[in-house]
Amino acid sequence: MHKSREISLSTMGCGTWAWGNQLLWGYNESMDEQLQAVFNLCVSNGVTLFDTGDSYGTGRLNGRSELLLGRFSQEYQGLNQENICLATKLAAYPWRWTRQSMIQACRASAKRLGRNVDLVQMHWSTGNYAPWQETRLLDGLADLYEQGLVKGVGLSNFGPKRLKLVHQRFAERGVPISTLQVQYSLLSTYPLTQLHLKDVCDELGIKLIAYSPLALGILTGKYSQKGPFPKGIRGLLFRQLLPGARSLLSCLREIAQTRHKTMSQVALNWCICKGTIPIPGAKSVTQAQDNIGALGWYLDSQEIAELDQAAASSDKVMVQNIFQTK
Ligand SMILES: NC(=O)c1ccc[n+]([C@@H]2O[C@H](COP(=O)([O-])OP(=O)(O)OC[C@H]3O[C@@H](n4cnc5c(N)ncnc54)[C@H](OP(=O)(O)O)[C@@H]3O)[C@@H](O)[C@H]2O)c1
Repeated sequence: MHKSREISLSTMGCGTWAWGNQLLWGYNESMDEQLQAVFNLCVSNGVTLFDTGDSYGTGRLNGRSELLLGRFSQEYQGLNQENICLATKLAAYPWRWTRQSMIQACRASAKRLGRNVDLVQMHWSTGNYAPWQETRLLDGLADLYEQGLVKGVGLSNFGPKRLKLVHQRFAERGVPISTLQVQYSLLSTYPLTQLHLKDVCDELGIKLIAYSPLALGILTGKYSQKGPFPKGIRGLLFRQLLPGARSLLSCLREIAQTRHKTMSQVALNWCICKGTIPIPGAKSVTQAQDNIGALGWYLDSQEIAELDQAAASSDKVMVQNIFQTK
């Protein structure tokens, strides 16, 4: 049995998918200063969990999100500094198939971060298309914990069946699974309502992280079906989703108004009330400030029930990640 290490997970985290993704999110290097201000604001307000991935950053900006995160965390000095938790996800690329390749990948992430990774997560399960690949990668993930290269290990896009199998395999080596990360929001309730992942995680002592908790921005209420829409794939998705999400959005808006909160804050608070750790991606200090306002209060049971009902009767929902297993 390995001595368990302390891993600090804040009630809410910050996602950094957009940090470095030029094609998908319109990132450019002139944004770096504002992203650093986002980082500083989050940490000083107790939002100390930052999620990135070794596949974040497109083209020549490959790995950019990790590089920025590393730089920001090194330069930060102030409140909650000791609680900063840098979580990265190692991609299950087809050319990554040995356990050693996971160790190399984590070392490369640590190099970009300029420090050890705190929480290493397997980005997705290969269970839907190449189950044979997964075992070695998972063994590599557990090796990282055993060798003391990370404080904690997590998974992403795993369903309950595979999660239980991995849990069993890791338990035999005395390696705990700290977190599971899935797409969860008012427009993506599937992981909890259909897969019952919260119950399984509770049973296994795993914290559930909710990614894309604002449904890529739809739940902020700033996009309407008349447009304008974001560029690219996100715009296409918004065109499809917004008409069907009207009643959910008006329920969200109503509760936000009564509460004197913003829609983003209500959407994130709902995730927190469901026992998950949302990791909204913030691109500006204004967005980060808004999201931080989701902390320090709780929706009541009637508000949660109204939102649950509105989510369940939404005509359209977010498509699940193709790698999400059952
Ligand atoms: N494990 C996985 O497979 C996986 C997959 C996806 C994401 N993730 C993780 O989850 C994190 C968050 O998810 P996400 O970025 O996909 O979606 P999200 O958090 O639901 O949406 C983020 C986007 O919403 C807008 N936004 C955020 N806060 C706002 C506010 N207060 N007011 C107005 N607009 C706001 C911003 O875009 P605009 O300003 O352009 O509208 C921002 O880029 C990622 O950074 C990543 O770390 C993990």
